[in-house]
Amino acid sequence: MTKQNHKQALTDPLFKKVTEAAKELKVECYVIGGFVRDYLLKGGRPKDIDIVVVGSGIALAKKVASKLPGKPKVSSFKNFGTAMIKSDHIELEFVGARKESYHRDSRKPVVEDGTLEDDQKRRDFTINALALSLNEANYGDLLDPFEGVIDLKRELIRTPLEPDITYSDDPLRMMRAIRFATQLGFRIDPKSLDAISRNKERIQIISKERIVEELHKIMASTKPSVGFSLLHKTELLPFILPELVALQGIEEIEGQRHKDNFWHTLEVVDNICETTDDLWLRWAALLHDIGKAPTKKFHKKIGWTFHGHEFVGSKMVYKLFKRLKMPLNDKMKFVQKMVLMSSRPIVLAEDYATDSAVRRLVFDAGDYVDDLMTLCEADITTKNPKKQRKYKNNFKMVRQKIKEVEDRDHIRNFQPPVTGEEIMKTFDLKPSKEIGIIKDTIKEAILEGEIPNEYKAAKKLMIQKGKELGLKIRS
Ligand code: CTP
Repeated sequence: MTKQNHKQALTDPLFKKVTEAAKELKVECYVIGGFVRDYLLKGGRPKDIDIVVVGSGIALAKKVASKLPGKPKVSSFKNFGTAMIKSDHIELEFVGARKESYHRDSRKPVVEDGTLEDDQKRRDFTINALALSLNEANYGDLLDPFEGVIDLKRELIRTPLEPDITYSDDPLRMMRAIRFATQLGFRIDPKSLDAISRNKERIQIISKERIVEELHKIMASTKPSVGFSLLHKTELLPFILPELVALQGIEEIEGQRHKDNFWHTLEVVDNICETTDDLWLRWAALLHDIGKAPTKKFHKKIGWTFHGHEFVGSKMVYKLFKRLKMPLNDKMKFVQKMVLMSSRPIVLAEDYATDSAVRRLVFDAGDYVDDLMTLCEADITTKNPKKQRKYKNNFKMVRQKIKEVEDRDHIRNFQPPVTGEEIMKTFDLKPSKEIGIIKDTIKEAILEGEIPNEYKAAKKLMIQKGKELGLKIRS
């Protein structure tokens, strides 16, 4: 095979500094991994560059840093033989070539140095084992002992070694295979897929944080369903998101069937990815129906029901986030809120949406009302074009109504027009339950459209309700 040269990938002056430093230290070094893969795929400019050194990664990093303007700091990890330089917006990572498997998060210290090829074969995939020479003699030459370039053309995820070896070196690679297949739209080599199924249980030794990082990358891709179907097919999913697996399947009793909520969910996720890049809204789509498995019931008269699945689902979100060590912060609360409210606009869209129902929706959803509408629109997965059109139109109308009600009544982030303090002053009250009753009456009247969301009308109602409660106005 003719040697390919890709000097044009290495025009950044940083690379020249690395070449100079390596020459002085008399070591060979190569750019490897994602940078080379993405360059050959004509992808975007990667923000980190991995450099493998046949020698000490730390020594080369220090030498390079001493040549760079401002002499940036080198962070080195002696146990792993790696070092990092952050320069402008690029991160340079140096690692000594080794005989053992390389991965950044491994807890295993490096023991044995190796050649470039030793290092390449212990990497995860052939397309990630591609290296470009930074050495003067063959600057830009592509070193591809495992046919990574062919795999890029074939759009194939394949391991350089027997897949069982590669995956047992680092079981996270099973998820990485699926993640790359999803991001790049590649196939996974059947031998690799079999190995993933065989080794699936080993995923349990991987930290939750690393697993979630891969899940986020699957969720951030244009068609996450590709990844989730692969996780399902290889049976990794029960170890990661059993709540989703529980949604799979169609039951039939007395000729009545319900839809398969697992495949439906995946469609909803793909749909929402067409309209939003918001990672957490995408997660809400993934989890919006998880409460359906534990709430499923069959009733002779009405068939299948999932009563209260939104509430149960939102509680499950907390447990799921906790188990996966995901942040239990406002992002989680947002996902919970979306799950809890996920059926509300649907009810409105099925029927004529009254102003008061829309006001209540805006009141409860607050700033997230648009996100909620986006989720519900993505939830339309009917294959019946007539129904599809009908639901879409109805949602359009609900959106329009939300806008009208908003412009008129300013319900979003509702602030009561009469404060508790004013109620106390007017009726000469100490903190008491009457204040709550009056405030609630005013809020309800506004939401029902009985009074406008204005001070004058609210004050009038306050006095009327106070009198009803037997309160006296302070003279
Ligand atoms: N690598 C590996 N096994 C892992 C993780 C990483 O062999 N479990 C190797 C691969 O050669 C990979 C390189 O380390 O290309 C860098 O890893 P990383 O930065 O995680 O991935 P990238 O390939 O750069 O891709 P991305 O940034 O999209 O994750």
